[in-house]
Amino acid sequence: MTTTSSSHGSLRVGVVGLGYAGTTHLESFAAIPGVEVVALAGKETDRLAALGAAHGIPHLFEDWRDLVEVDRLDVVSIASPNARHNDIAIAALERGRHVFCEKPMAITAAGAREMVRASHAGNRVLEVAFNHRRRADVQWARRYIEETGLGRVYHSRASWKRRSGIPGLASWFTSAAMAGGGALIDLGPHVLDSLLFLLGEPRVVAVSAVAHGELGRAGYGAMDRREQMAGTGAFEVEDLVSALLRLEDGSSVALEISWAGHTVDDEDISIELLGVEAGIRLFVPRYKGEDTLRVYREAGGAPVTIAPAVRVPGGEHPLVIAEFVEVVRSGDWAGHHGDYALHRTEIVDACYRSAAEGREVTL
Ligand SMILES: NC(=O)c1ccc[n+]([C@@H]2O[C@H](COP(=O)([O-])OP(=O)(O)OC[C@H]3O[C@@H](n4cnc5c(N)ncnc54)[C@H](O)[C@@H]3O)[C@@H](O)[C@H]2O)c1
Repeated sequence: MTTTSSSHGSLRVGVVGLGYAGTTHLESFAAIPGVEVVALAGKETDRLAALGAAHGIPHLFEDWRDLVEVDRLDVVSIASPNARHNDIAIAALERGRHVFCEKPMAITAAGAREMVRASHAGNRVLEVAFNHRRRADVQWARRYIEETGLGRVYHSRASWKRRSGIPGLASWFTSAAMAGGGALIDLGPHVLDSLLFLLGEPRVVAVSAVAHGELGRAGYGAMDRREQMAGTGAFEVEDLVSALLRLEDGSSVALEISWAGHTVDDEDISIELLGVEAGIRLFVPRYKGEDTLRVYREAGGAPVTIAPAVRVPGGEHPLVIAEFVEVVRSGDWAGHHGDYALHRTEIVDACYRSAAEGREVTL
Protein backbone atom coordinates (compact mmCIF):
# COMPACT_ATOMS: atom_id res chain seq x y z
CA MET A 1 0.00 0.00 0.00
CA THR A 2 1.44 3.35 -1.02
CA THR A 3 1.44 6.10 1.58
CA THR A 4 1.26 9.77 0.71
CA SER A 5 3.33 12.22 2.68
CA SER A 6 1.08 15.18 1.79
CA SER A 7 -0.78 15.01 5.08
CA HIS A 8 2.38 14.91 7.21
CA GLY A 9 5.15 16.92 5.59
CA SER A 10 6.27 18.10 2.21
CA LEU A 11 4.71 16.96 -1.05
CA ARG A 12 7.16 14.65 -2.87
CA VAL A 13 7.16 15.07 -6.66
CA GLY A 14 8.77 13.16 -9.52
CA VAL A 15 9.09 14.80 -12.97
CA VAL A 16 9.39 12.85 -16.23
CA GLY A 17 10.98 14.81 -19.10
CA LEU A 18 13.88 17.22 -19.42
CA GLY A 19 12.76 19.32 -22.39
CA TYR A 20 10.96 22.68 -22.31
CA ALA A 21 7.91 21.23 -20.60
CA GLY A 22 9.80 19.05 -18.09
CA THR A 23 12.09 21.89 -17.09
CA THR A 24 9.08 24.17 -16.61
CA HIS A 25 7.39 21.53 -14.42
CA LEU A 26 10.55 21.02 -12.38
CA GLU A 27 11.08 24.72 -11.76
CA SER A 28 7.39 25.37 -11.05
CA PHE A 29 7.08 22.58 -8.47
CA ALA A 30 10.45 23.41 -6.91
CA ALA A 31 9.37 27.03 -6.37
CA ILE A 32 6.36 26.08 -4.21
CA PRO A 33 7.02 26.07 -0.46
CA GLY A 34 6.57 22.62 1.04
CA VAL A 35 7.02 20.85 -2.30
CA GLU A 36 10.14 18.77 -2.91
CA VAL A 37 11.14 17.43 -6.33
CA VAL A 38 12.73 14.14 -5.24
CA ALA A 39 12.94 12.33 -8.60
CA LEU A 40 13.63 13.23 -12.22
CA ALA A 41 13.69 11.07 -15.37
CA GLY A 42 14.87 11.64 -18.92
CA LYS A 43 17.08 10.09 -21.56
CA GLU A 44 19.57 12.96 -21.97
CA THR A 45 22.05 11.81 -19.33
CA ASP A 46 24.15 15.01 -19.17
CA ARG A 47 21.12 17.21 -18.78
CA LEU A 48 19.66 14.80 -16.21
CA ALA A 49 22.81 15.01 -14.11
CA ALA A 50 23.03 18.80 -14.46
CA LEU A 51 19.38 19.41 -13.51
CA GLY A 52 19.65 16.88 -10.70
CA ALA A 53 22.70 18.63 -9.26
CA ALA A 54 21.25 22.13 -9.70
CA HIS A 55 18.07 21.20 -7.82
CA GLY A 56 19.54 18.68 -5.34
CA ILE A 57 17.34 15.83 -6.62
CA PRO A 58 18.28 12.50 -5.01
CA HIS A 59 16.67 10.04 -7.49
CA LEU A 60 17.70 10.33 -11.16
CA PHE A 61 16.58 7.83 -13.83
CA GLU A 62 16.80 7.38 -17.57
CA ASP A 63 13.45 5.57 -17.64
CA TRP A 64 10.13 6.68 -16.17
CA ARG A 65 9.39 3.11 -15.00
CA ASP A 66 11.97 3.49 -12.24
CA LEU A 67 10.67 6.90 -11.23
CA VAL A 68 7.10 5.78 -10.53
CA GLU A 69 8.46 3.22 -8.01
CA VAL A 70 10.24 5.77 -5.80
CA ASP A 71 9.18 5.35 -2.18
CA ARG A 72 6.61 7.79 -0.76
CA LEU A 73 6.18 9.68 -4.02
CA ASP A 74 3.00 11.79 -3.94
CA VAL A 75 2.96 13.24 -7.44
CA VAL A 76 4.17 12.23 -10.90
CA SER A 77 4.44 15.10 -13.34
CA ILE A 78 4.48 14.02 -16.99
CA ALA A 79 6.34 15.97 -19.69
CA SER A 80 7.37 13.12 -21.98
CA PRO A 81 6.51 12.67 -25.67
CA ASN A 82 2.72 12.37 -26.16
CA ALA A 83 2.58 8.60 -26.67
CA ARG A 84 3.97 7.93 -23.18
CA HIS A 85 1.46 10.10 -21.25
CA ASN A 86 -1.05 7.28 -20.93
CA ASP A 87 1.40 4.55 -19.75
CA ILE A 88 3.09 6.80 -17.21
CA ALA A 89 -0.18 8.22 -15.85
CA ILE A 90 -1.79 4.83 -15.38
CA ALA A 91 1.30 3.31 -13.72
CA ALA A 92 1.51 6.33 -11.40
CA LEU A 93 -2.23 6.37 -10.55
CA GLU A 94 -2.20 2.62 -9.88
CA ARG A 95 0.61 3.21 -7.37
CA GLY A 96 -1.42 5.88 -5.58
CA ARG A 97 0.37 8.92 -7.02
CA HIS A 98 -1.45 12.05 -8.13
CA VAL A 99 -0.74 12.98 -11.75
CA PHE A 100 -0.07 16.27 -13.47
CA CYS A 101 0.07 15.55 -17.21
CA GLU A 102 1.07 17.64 -20.19
CA LYS A 103 -1.34 18.13 -23.05
CA PRO A 104 -2.36 16.26 -25.12
CA MET A 105 -3.79 14.08 -22.34
CA ALA A 106 -3.29 10.97 -24.52
CA ILE A 107 -2.94 10.19 -28.21
CA THR A 108 -6.36 8.49 -28.37
CA ALA A 109 -9.69 9.01 -26.64
CA ALA A 110 -9.56 5.38 -25.48
CA GLY A 111 -6.21 6.05 -23.80
CA ALA A 112 -7.54 9.18 -22.09
CA ARG A 113 -10.61 7.27 -20.91
CA GLU A 114 -8.36 4.66 -19.24
CA MET A 115 -6.55 7.46 -17.42
CA VAL A 116 -9.80 8.94 -16.12
CA ARG A 117 -10.92 5.49 -14.99
CA ALA A 118 -7.64 4.91 -13.12
CA SER A 119 -7.90 8.33 -11.47
CA HIS A 120 -11.44 7.61 -10.21
CA ALA A 121 -10.60 4.03 -9.21
CA GLY A 122 -7.59 5.02 -7.12
CA ASN A 123 -9.14 8.32 -5.95
CA ARG A 124 -6.14 10.36 -7.02
CA VAL A 125 -6.03 13.71 -8.82
CA LEU A 126 -5.47 13.74 -12.58
CA GLU A 127 -4.92 17.20 -14.06
CA VAL A 128 -3.87 18.21 -17.58
CA ALA A 129 -1.69 21.26 -18.27
CA PHE A 130 -4.14 23.70 -19.81
CA ASN A 131 -2.09 26.78 -19.13
CA HIS A 132 -3.53 28.92 -21.95
CA ARG A 133 -6.94 29.27 -20.35
CA ARG A 134 -5.17 30.81 -17.31
CA ARG A 135 -4.13 33.79 -19.46
CA ALA A 136 -5.57 36.96 -17.94
CA ASP A 137 -7.35 37.86 -21.22
CA VAL A 138 -9.10 34.47 -21.44
CA GLN A 139 -10.14 34.80 -17.78
CA TRP A 140 -11.41 38.35 -18.43
CA ALA A 141 -13.45 37.14 -21.40
CA ARG A 142 -15.01 34.36 -19.33
CA ARG A 143 -15.99 36.83 -16.58
CA TYR A 144 -17.44 39.21 -19.19
CA ILE A 145 -19.53 36.43 -20.70
CA GLU A 146 -20.79 35.39 -17.24
CA GLU A 147 -21.52 38.88 -15.96
CA THR A 148 -22.63 40.80 -19.08
CA GLY A 149 -23.35 38.07 -21.59
CA LEU A 150 -23.28 37.84 -25.37
CA GLY A 151 -26.77 36.44 -25.87
CA ARG A 152 -26.98 33.03 -27.45
CA VAL A 153 -23.60 32.17 -29.01
CA TYR A 154 -24.53 30.53 -32.30
CA HIS A 155 -21.09 30.28 -33.92
CA SER A 156 -17.43 30.50 -32.90
CA ARG A 157 -14.18 30.62 -34.81
CA ALA A 158 -11.10 29.20 -33.17
CA SER A 159 -7.62 28.90 -34.62
CA TRP A 160 -3.90 28.67 -33.98
CA LYS A 161 -1.94 29.36 -37.14
CA ARG A 162 1.76 29.49 -37.84
CA ARG A 163 3.64 30.39 -40.98
CA SER A 164 6.67 28.29 -40.17
CA GLY A 165 6.18 26.41 -36.96
CA ILE A 166 6.60 22.65 -37.31
CA PRO A 167 8.28 21.81 -34.00
CA GLY A 168 11.45 19.86 -34.61
CA LEU A 169 10.79 18.72 -38.17
CA ALA A 170 11.88 15.05 -38.09
CA SER A 171 11.68 14.84 -34.28
CA TRP A 172 9.19 12.78 -32.25
CA PHE A 173 6.66 15.60 -32.79
CA THR A 174 6.36 14.49 -36.44
CA SER A 175 6.22 10.75 -35.75
CA ALA A 176 2.67 9.35 -35.86
CA ALA A 177 3.47 6.68 -33.26
CA MET A 178 5.11 9.05 -30.76
CA ALA A 179 2.99 12.19 -31.25
CA GLY A 180 -0.34 10.64 -32.27
CA GLY A 181 -0.82 13.39 -34.85
CA GLY A 182 0.58 16.76 -35.87
CA ALA A 183 -0.64 20.33 -35.54
CA LEU A 184 -4.08 19.41 -34.21
CA ILE A 185 -2.96 17.18 -31.35
CA ASP A 186 -0.12 19.59 -30.50
CA LEU A 187 -1.87 22.99 -30.55
CA GLY A 188 -5.53 21.95 -30.69
CA PRO A 189 -5.91 20.99 -27.00
CA HIS A 190 -5.08 24.54 -25.88
CA VAL A 191 -7.44 26.16 -28.39
CA LEU A 192 -10.26 23.72 -27.65
CA ASP A 193 -9.75 24.08 -23.92
CA SER A 194 -9.93 27.88 -23.96
CA LEU A 195 -12.90 27.81 -26.34
CA LEU A 196 -14.92 25.29 -24.30
CA PHE A 197 -14.04 27.15 -21.10
CA LEU A 198 -15.37 30.40 -22.61
CA LEU A 199 -18.50 28.69 -23.90
CA GLY A 200 -19.25 27.14 -20.47
CA GLU A 201 -18.28 23.53 -21.27
CA PRO A 202 -20.83 22.51 -23.92
CA ARG A 203 -20.45 19.04 -25.45
CA VAL A 204 -19.32 18.70 -29.04
CA VAL A 205 -21.58 16.13 -30.71
CA ALA A 206 -20.21 15.89 -34.27
CA VAL A 207 -17.15 16.92 -36.27
CA SER A 208 -16.26 17.09 -39.93
CA ALA A 209 -12.55 17.58 -40.55
CA VAL A 210 -9.90 17.61 -43.24
CA ALA A 211 -6.16 17.19 -42.64
CA HIS A 212 -3.18 18.07 -44.86
CA GLY A 213 0.51 17.33 -44.49
CA GLU A 214 1.90 18.66 -47.75
CA LEU A 215 4.26 21.27 -46.36
CA GLY A 216 5.92 19.04 -43.80
CA ARG A 217 6.36 16.25 -46.32
CA ALA A 218 7.93 18.68 -48.79
CA GLY A 219 10.37 19.83 -46.11
CA TYR A 220 8.83 23.29 -45.60
CA GLY A 221 7.71 24.98 -42.43
CA ALA A 222 10.19 23.84 -39.74
CA MET A 223 10.44 25.95 -36.62
CA ASP A 224 13.96 26.69 -35.54
CA ARG A 225 14.06 24.81 -32.27
CA ARG A 226 17.63 23.83 -31.69
CA GLU A 227 16.83 22.60 -28.20
CA GLN A 228 14.47 19.99 -29.65
CA MET A 229 15.61 16.47 -28.75
CA ALA A 230 16.69 14.18 -31.60
CA GLY A 231 13.97 11.93 -32.94
CA THR A 232 12.63 9.59 -35.54
CA GLY A 233 13.58 11.29 -38.79
CA ALA A 234 10.26 11.30 -40.62
CA PHE A 235 7.28 13.60 -41.23
CA GLU A 236 4.28 11.32 -40.83
CA VAL A 237 1.62 13.68 -39.52
CA GLU A 238 -0.54 16.61 -40.63
CA ASP A 239 0.50 20.25 -40.59
CA LEU A 240 -3.03 21.66 -41.02
CA VAL A 241 -6.49 20.63 -39.86
CA SER A 242 -9.70 22.46 -40.66
CA ALA A 243 -12.92 21.30 -38.98
CA LEU A 244 -16.54 22.16 -38.44
CA LEU A 245 -17.78 21.17 -34.98
CA ARG A 246 -21.46 20.84 -34.08
CA LEU A 247 -22.33 21.50 -30.43
CA GLU A 248 -25.16 19.98 -28.41
CA ASP A 249 -27.12 23.27 -28.40
CA GLY A 250 -27.12 23.51 -32.21
CA SER A 251 -24.32 26.08 -32.34
CA SER A 252 -21.17 25.55 -34.39
CA VAL A 253 -17.40 26.09 -34.34
CA ALA A 254 -15.03 26.60 -37.24
CA LEU A 255 -11.66 25.29 -36.10
CA GLU A 256 -8.37 25.70 -37.95
CA ILE A 257 -5.04 24.59 -36.56
CA SER A 258 -1.85 24.77 -38.58
CA TRP A 259 1.85 24.43 -37.94
CA ALA A 260 2.78 25.93 -41.29
CA GLY A 261 1.45 27.77 -44.35
CA HIS A 262 2.88 30.07 -47.01
CA THR A 263 0.90 33.04 -45.77
CA VAL A 264 0.91 35.94 -43.35
CA ASP A 265 0.17 33.85 -40.21
CA ASP A 266 2.94 34.07 -37.69
CA GLU A 267 2.01 32.55 -34.35
CA ASP A 268 -1.60 33.67 -34.26
CA ILE A 269 -4.09 32.36 -31.74
CA SER A 270 -7.63 33.55 -32.25
CA ILE A 271 -10.95 32.77 -30.57
CA GLU A 272 -14.08 34.58 -31.68
CA LEU A 273 -17.53 34.04 -30.17
CA LEU A 274 -20.51 35.34 -32.14
CA GLY A 275 -23.53 35.89 -29.92
CA VAL A 276 -26.93 37.36 -30.74
CA GLU A 277 -26.40 40.35 -28.41
CA ALA A 278 -22.63 40.75 -28.75
CA GLY A 279 -19.40 39.18 -29.93
CA ILE A 280 -16.00 38.81 -28.35
CA ARG A 281 -12.67 38.29 -30.05
CA LEU A 282 -9.39 37.22 -28.53
CA PHE A 283 -6.51 37.68 -30.96
CA VAL A 284 -3.04 36.79 -29.70
CA PRO A 285 -0.29 37.17 -32.27
CA ARG A 286 3.14 35.95 -31.05
CA TYR A 287 1.96 35.36 -27.46
CA LYS A 288 1.26 39.10 -27.16
CA GLY A 289 0.53 40.21 -23.60
CA GLU A 290 -1.70 43.25 -24.13
CA ASP A 291 -4.46 44.65 -26.34
CA THR A 292 -5.67 41.16 -27.28
CA LEU A 293 -9.41 41.58 -26.66
CA ARG A 294 -12.34 43.27 -28.37
CA VAL A 295 -16.03 43.20 -27.51
CA TYR A 296 -18.50 44.09 -30.26
CA ARG A 297 -22.02 45.22 -29.34
CA GLU A 298 -24.65 47.69 -30.47
CA ALA A 299 -25.80 50.70 -28.46
CA GLY A 300 -28.68 52.88 -29.64
CA GLY A 301 -28.61 51.16 -33.02
CA ALA A 302 -24.93 51.90 -33.62
CA PRO A 303 -22.00 49.47 -33.45
CA VAL A 304 -19.78 49.87 -30.40
CA THR A 305 -16.34 48.31 -30.04
CA ILE A 306 -14.87 47.92 -26.56
CA ALA A 307 -11.12 47.41 -26.11
CA PRO A 308 -10.61 46.38 -22.49
CA ALA A 309 -7.22 47.16 -20.95
CA VAL A 310 -6.13 43.68 -19.88
CA ARG A 311 -2.47 42.90 -19.38
CA VAL A 312 -1.26 39.31 -19.54
CA PRO A 313 1.73 38.97 -17.22
CA GLY A 314 2.59 35.41 -18.38
CA GLY A 315 3.67 32.62 -16.04
CA GLU A 316 0.52 30.55 -16.60
CA HIS A 317 2.31 27.16 -16.34
CA PRO A 318 3.50 27.80 -12.74
CA LEU A 319 -0.01 29.02 -11.93
CA VAL A 320 -1.64 25.79 -13.14
CA ILE A 321 0.92 23.75 -11.21
CA ALA A 322 0.34 25.80 -8.04
CA GLU A 323 -3.42 25.21 -8.41
CA PHE A 324 -2.81 21.48 -8.88
CA VAL A 325 -0.75 21.39 -5.67
CA GLU A 326 -3.52 23.24 -3.83
CA VAL A 327 -6.09 20.69 -4.99
CA VAL A 328 -3.88 17.76 -3.93
CA ARG A 329 -3.30 19.32 -0.51
CA SER A 330 -6.99 20.12 -0.03
CA GLY A 331 -7.87 16.42 0.05
CA ASP A 332 -11.06 17.32 -1.85
CA TRP A 333 -10.46 15.60 -5.17
CA ALA A 334 -13.98 15.29 -6.50
CA GLY A 335 -14.16 16.85 -9.96
CA HIS A 336 -10.39 16.55 -10.45
CA HIS A 337 -10.18 13.22 -12.25
CA GLY A 338 -9.57 14.48 -15.78
CA ASP A 339 -13.17 14.17 -17.02
CA TYR A 340 -13.33 17.57 -18.71
CA ALA A 341 -9.88 17.06 -20.24
CA LEU A 342 -11.08 13.78 -21.73
CA HIS A 343 -13.64 15.62 -23.88
CA ARG A 344 -10.83 17.62 -25.55
CA THR A 345 -9.14 14.32 -26.49
CA GLU A 346 -12.43 12.92 -27.78
CA ILE A 347 -12.82 15.92 -30.09
CA VAL A 348 -9.26 15.65 -31.44
CA ASP A 349 -9.71 11.90 -31.90
CA ALA A 350 -13.00 12.41 -33.77
CA CYS A 351 -11.39 15.03 -36.05
CA TYR A 352 -8.65 12.58 -37.04
CA ARG A 353 -11.23 9.86 -37.68
CA SER A 354 -13.37 12.23 -39.73
CA ALA A 355 -10.38 13.33 -41.84
CA ALA A 356 -9.25 9.72 -42.40
CA GLU A 357 -12.73 8.49 -43.34
CA GLY A 358 -13.85 11.59 -45.27
CA ARG A 359 -17.14 11.96 -43.40
CA GLU A 360 -18.76 13.58 -40.39
CA VAL A 361 -18.14 11.67 -37.14
CA THR A 362 -20.47 11.79 -34.15
CA LEU A 363 -19.12 11.70 -30.60
N1 LIG B 1 1.49 23.08 -22.03
C1 LIG B 1 2.33 23.61 -22.90
O1 LIG B 1 2.23 24.80 -23.21
C2 LIG B 1 3.42 22.76 -23.51
C3 LIG B 1 4.56 23.34 -24.07
C4 LIG B 1 5.53 22.49 -24.62
C5 LIG B 1 5.36 21.11 -24.62
N2 LIG B 1 4.23 20.58 -24.08
C6 LIG B 1 4.04 19.12 -24.04
O2 LIG B 1 5.02 18.54 -23.20
C7 LIG B 1 5.45 17.28 -23.67
C8 LIG B 1 6.97 17.30 -23.86
O3 LIG B 1 7.30 18.30 -24.81
P1 LIG B 1 8.81 18.87 -24.91
O4 LIG B 1 8.78 19.96 -25.92
O5 LIG B 1 9.32 19.20 -23.54
O6 LIG B 1 9.54 17.58 -25.52
P2 LIG B 1 11.09 17.16 -25.51
O7 LIG B 1 11.27 16.21 -26.61
O8 LIG B 1 11.92 18.40 -25.49
O9 LIG B 1 11.27 16.39 -24.12
C9 LIG B 1 10.74 15.10 -23.88
C10 LIG B 1 11.47 14.47 -22.71
O10 LIG B 1 10.90 13.18 -22.43
C11 LIG B 1 11.96 12.28 -22.13
N3 LIG B 1 11.60 10.87 -22.34
C12 LIG B 1 11.28 10.23 -23.49
N4 LIG B 1 11.09 8.92 -23.27
C13 LIG B 1 11.31 8.72 -21.94
C14 LIG B 1 11.30 7.57 -21.09
N5 LIG B 1 11.01 6.35 -21.55
N6 LIG B 1 11.58 7.74 -19.77
C15 LIG B 1 11.88 8.96 -19.28
N7 LIG B 1 11.91 10.09 -20.03
C16 LIG B 1 11.63 9.96 -21.35
C17 LIG B 1 13.06 12.71 -23.10
O11 LIG B 1 14.29 12.16 -22.67
C18 LIG B 1 12.96 14.24 -22.97
O12 LIG B 1 13.73 14.69 -21.89
C19 LIG B 1 4.68 17.04 -24.96
O13 LIG B 1 3.58 16.22 -24.69
C20 LIG B 1 4.21 18.42 -25.39
O14 LIG B 1 2.99 18.40 -26.09
C21 LIG B 1 3.28 21.37 -23.53
